[in-house]
Amino acid sequence: MKHLIDPTDLTKKETDQIIALAGDMIANKEKYRESQRYGKLATLFYEPSTRTRLSFTSAMMELGGKVLGFSDAKNSSVAKGETVQDTVRVVGAFADVIAMRHNLEGAPLAAAQVSPVPIINAGDGSHSHPTQTLTDLLTIFRELGHIDGITIGFCGDLKFGRTVHSLIKALSRYEDINVVLIAPEELRLPDYIKQDVCDCKSLTFREVSTIEEAIGDLDVLYMTRVQKERFLDEDEFDRVKDSFVLDKEKMKLAKPKMAVLHPLPRVNEILPEVDSDHRAAYFRQVENGKFVRMALITKLLEWRDNPAHAMPVHKGVFEDASLLCHNRKCISCHEPLPHLFKKGADGVVRCCYCDAKV
Ligand code: NCD
Repeated sequence: MKHLIDPTDLTKKETDQIIALAGDMIANKEKYRESQRYGKLATLFYEPSTRTRLSFTSAMMELGGKVLGFSDAKNSSVAKGETVQDTVRVVGAFADVIAMRHNLEGAPLAAAQVSPVPIINAGDGSHSHPTQTLTDLLTIFRELGHIDGITIGFCGDLKFGRTVHSLIKALSRYEDINVVLIAPEELRLPDYIKQDVCDCKSLTFREVSTIEEAIGDLDVLYMTRVQKERFLDEDEFDRVKDSFVLDKEKMKLAKPKMAVLHPLPRVNEILPEVDSDHRAAYFRQVENGKFVRMALITKLLEWRDNPAHAMPVHKGVFEDASLLCHNRKCISCHEPLPHLFKKGADGVVRCCYCDAKV
């Protein structure tokens, strides 16, 4: 059975199939209207969300299916102390596919270990957000006509921004990708992301300290919000919150075809004066998110019993009951789970749930 926990759970070919199907769904809406008529999607959202949850809901409705679930774990058995794995075993009896968002990193992976139905990671802590990645890939493709060969600048909170982590991983499988990182010192991209893609020859990194230095070279500018809720220290948040702001002046330096993406919500990092610029693609990106989720749900249900679409075996994974992950935001520190770790090509051992070094 295929789950989507990390973008690399999908092969490049499967990713492209989902993007192509989303494109066909945009062009031929009628054709898919009743295609999941008896299907049920459960949305288990343990962390606030507007766009992602409603976009899953709307996607399943467009396909003629039904949606159940919760958007506030306080109103579910979780409040009584139920583990993620138990909740998923129960909900798996009521739904055909489950989309889960969790504040703890690795919760969707824990869920996938026992779930009788496909699990979709709708965002786990500051770790990963693979359905936003599919949305971003579809948006880049629709705005520019290609993904290979792009120069993409990531700006803002590259440390806690899970959408950035997942998109970089996914882009490492395309040809000739140039990544420009634009972030304050405190919010730089975690090393493990660079490590993950380090043996990928077709992706290069460059770090700069202002938007102005890079914007003229970019095909895509990916803006992000500084993730207040992930900071342990409020003063540090105040220091960096307004580090990078995109305005009309800076847009004058950009190529005529550059696309500005943002997973939204924005706070202050893109001024509303940019919204009317034809290169501002972030509201089109929201709509693409619905179609890509329609395509993903369709494909996961189609692939469910096909061994050709089983989960990939990730390299270097091992179980060791004597090792512990010390990341307080990791599900493995809160619930009894197999102690799973992976050893990278650099010899570093990391937790399989949250990618923290052990
Ligand atoms: C992002 C997320 O939740 O990680 N938003 C989204 O999924 N649309 C980005 C954010 O919250 O800043």
